[in-house]
Amino acid sequence: MVTIPSSCSALSCPTVGLSNGLNIPILGLGTSHDGGYSHEAVLYALQECGIRHIDTAKRYGCEEALGKAVADSAVPREELWLTTKLWPGDYGYQSAKQACRDSCARLGVDYLDLYLMHWPDCMVPGLSSREVRAETWRALEELYDEGLCRAIGVSNFLIRHLNELKDRGGVVPHVNQVEFHPFQQPLELVEYCREEDIVFEGYCPLAKGQALTHPAIMKLARKYGRSASQICVRWSIQNGVVTIPKSTKPDRIHENCQVFGFRLDDSDMAALGLLHDGRHVSWDPTHVE
Ligand SMILES: NC(=O)c1ccc[n+]([C@@H]2O[C@H](COP(=O)([O-])OP(=O)(O)OC[C@H]3O[C@@H](n4cnc5c(N)ncnc54)[C@H](OP(=O)(O)O)[C@@H]3O)[C@@H](O)[C@H]2O)c1
Repeated sequence: MVTIPSSCSALSCPTVGLSNGLNIPILGLGTSHDGGYSHEAVLYALQECGIRHIDTAKRYGCEEALGKAVADSAVPREELWLTTKLWPGDYGYQSAKQACRDSCARLGVDYLDLYLMHWPDCMVPGLSSREVRAETWRALEELYDEGLCRAIGVSNFLIRHLNELKDRGGVVPHVNQVEFHPFQQPLELVEYCREEDIVFEGYCPLAKGQALTHPAIMKLARKYGRSASQICVRWSIQNGVVTIPKSTKPDRIHENCQVFGFRLDDSDMAALGLLHDGRHVSWDPTHVE
């Protein structure tokens, strides 16, 4: 259940409840390798914008730098929500456990708030992705039981991949992180996740910048006296979708956080809902077995 105050600073960012009782801030900062990593920007997000949720991955190659920024920010660990991801090259029972410990070491933390399987395909020729996913998930369940991960989840999983995990019993993923922006609205998957009590988290909320020049979004920006990027981030939040826009520029990070002092009208939410054209600006898991 999401509670969105009409006016709120990023310092009192609304949260979304996970099935295990934890609360994830609905707005976080992305740190993917595209466009590089900025120590200054992460520090600014933590110290000046009050961002308390950061999304990263082993794949992005910045866990160590991020750990340094977190330490330099002096934000207490317990105030932060840190998500990182397990890369398919580390899938498998033993390697997944080791990869998690290595990510914690690089980030300089004793535990992760959320650990995600990054991609449904195991990418190992000759091995069944289904079996590798199952044994990897078993490792994540144990990391969760041990307290090394406060929540565990998946990313880019489709309904059939989630059903397969459900069939084997055990922990239901707490989160599924999937591409979500006005041009990519996988509504059936969103609905499935709600029914199964899996928090739906959206990545690429600005469609990697493509959404910022769309005429309908620019028109709404003018109507609300906001930027196109604020319209996109606000739209995700009003849909109850956890969102993690990325920027390496402090002024843009500040802008992307100013999304709690206004509300999009229902008719404008509906108009944005019509912009779906199925395009992926990141990768597309449709053909993963
Ligand atoms: N799980 C997955 O498979 C997966 C896949 C992709 C992404 N992600 C996560 O989702 C996060 C966000 O996705 P993303 O970085 O790919 O795309 P995004 O957040 O939709 O867009 C980022 C792009 O928009 C620019 N930008 C940001 N704020 C802006 C603003 N206010 N005005 C103008 N331009 C702005 C950034 O450039 P500057 O940096 O130059 O500002 C960057 O080029 C990633 O960082 C990563 O953490 C996860």
